[in-house]
Amino acid sequence: MSNAKKNIIVISTLIVIFSIYNFSVYNLRDYKQPVKLSSKAIQGQQLWQENNCWSCHQIYGLGGYLGPDLTNTFSNPKKGKEYIKTFLNSGIKSMPKFNFSEDEKESIAIFLKYIDSTGYYPNYEANFKLNGWVELKYKDEE
Ligand code: HEC
Repeated sequence: MSNAKKNIIVISTLIVIFSIYNFSVYNLRDYKQPVKLSSKAIQGQQLWQENNCWSCHQIYGLGGYLGPDLTNTFSNPKKGKEYIKTFLNSGIKSMPKFNFSEDEKESIAIFLKYIDSTGYYPNYEANFKLNGWVELKYKDEE
């Protein structure tokens, strides 16, 4: 068999294996629907972006580091909705004093509630599988 033919066989085999692998990764695992935000939460997200909350706060560890991570502030038994709303206009420490209306404070809290519902950060319930997958504990599996 000529070298060219061998190369074609090897490459086609690799393409087939790659396709099967991709198919299984994207179709056979239970695919999670993205969380759909309510209009209230979208309003909160806009305020979050316009006011650069990112520059000091993280969600899932991503963002600035002057303030704390806010992924699970909403469901934290010692914190929660009223706690979040109180912080917004308080101007405590290096957090700027914002001037949000009651409606805006509510929507930011609802946005953080949605974020919170998507999972844990940090997530200590990680299970490393032999096949390379890492199984994490999600909120909707409780
Ligand atoms: C310039 C930096 C900065 C910006 C911008 C900022 N924050 Fe903060 N934030 C902080 C700091 C620092 C703290 C911690 C204050 C403390 O512990 O006394 C904090 C605390 C908080 C807390 C309480 C968190 C907890 O777990 O105790 C919430 C909620 C919060 N910020 C929300 C927001 C939101 C929403 C925005 C945007 C509208 C925002 N912050 C913008 C610096 C910032």
